[in-house]
Amino acid sequence: MLKPNTKPANPNFSSGPCSKRPGWTPECLSDAALGRSHRSGLGKAKLASVIDRTKAILGLPEGYRLAIVPASDTGAVEMALWSLLGARGVDVLTWESFGMGWANDIKNQLKIDDLRVLASEYGVLPDLASVDFSRDVIFTWNGTTSGVRSPNGDWIDADREGLTICDATSAVFAMDLPWEKLDVITWSWQKILGGEAAHGMLALSPRAVERLESYTPSWPLPKIFRMTKGGKINEGIFRGETINTPSMLAVEDCIDTLKWAESIGGLAALKARSEANLDAVRAWVAKTDWIEFLAKDPATLSSTSICLALSDACPLDDEAKSTAPKRMAALLEAENVAYDIAGHRDAPPGLRIWGGSTVEASDVEALTPWLEWSYSQLLESTNA
Ligand SMILES: Cc1ncc(COP(=O)(O)O)c(C=O)c1O
Repeated sequence: MLKPNTKPANPNFSSGPCSKRPGWTPECLSDAALGRSHRSGLGKAKLASVIDRTKAILGLPEGYRLAIVPASDTGAVEMALWSLLGARGVDVLTWESFGMGWANDIKNQLKIDDLRVLASEYGVLPDLASVDFSRDVIFTWNGTTSGVRSPNGDWIDADREGLTICDATSAVFAMDLPWEKLDVITWSWQKILGGEAAHGMLALSPRAVERLESYTPSWPLPKIFRMTKGGKINEGIFRGETINTPSMLAVEDCIDTLKWAESIGGLAALKARSEANLDAVRAWVAKTDWIEFLAKDPATLSSTSICLALSDACPLDDEAKSTAPKRMAALLEAENVAYDIAGHRDAPPGLRIWGGSTVEASDVEALTPWLEWSYSQLLESTNA
């Protein structure tokens, strides 16, 4: 097969840090409050701007608090787990490596005895009907390493007794989330927004705040996890008075991308852009017999972390199949067509194409003939 004529205009298809927004240049950071205190009037206004713009774009329910916290999404999730768990039994849902990571921490670090891990293989969801909402429930909305997302929030009990803690880092800004059914929601700036890594966002429902104010965990809490002061929620954190020093460069970048999101039409436009990327991959998969989605149920197909596997129609033997995606990814990187599209190291061998809102559907469309080309190169080299 000859090389296709057109390359994606932007070859960045990484699942994190993700592609910057269309039109981004370092000039977009020229207003950054560099060299200034984050506690100055200017610094505080910028941090508050991130919180206020985010709340407005996402339509966070009245009464939900939103904070900028240290250590990206991992920091936000760990802060929630360490601050809130232990008050009642815990159900953790895992369907890929990030969920498994949270389950391991709850079991091995927090040593919660009354713990149920509801796990499934890559490609499918665990049995959502068996979740017990009288317990605290932890789950990842979109499995970034399997490309399987929760199809909706119908399975979550609106009248739950426990808290729902949702790692939504590869979903927020690209997917609908049932906010009222989620008590803790976490994400980072470098995913759907294409922002800079470093800081996490933590949204809390009034019920989560009630837990913070009425329950003290038996274990010590590092300073960067502490959300209460004298038994009361520390409201300053939710106005942008961060626990420790944030990067004002990353803050400026986040404001820039939030302004971009507003300019294109907000959440609806962000979601539509991500869905268009999934549509482009779906159209190609539908006409290509050697490739399939890792997600088995079309209703659970992620529009952000789009994970693909070689199908049974691929003539390669098992060993060649297991290395094929990495070799295809390397060929495409060498052609400057696509960067970072090999599947996650913990996932079954496959390709992962980021389809978050900063990626252009025209680039995904331009990529698919190149996927064909890289596959043809593999077949040629193995004489399959
Ligand atoms: C679902 C999920 N959780 C957690 C993380 C870790 O995020 P961070 O590196 O922002 O801490 C990632 C990163 O890809 C993720 O996809």
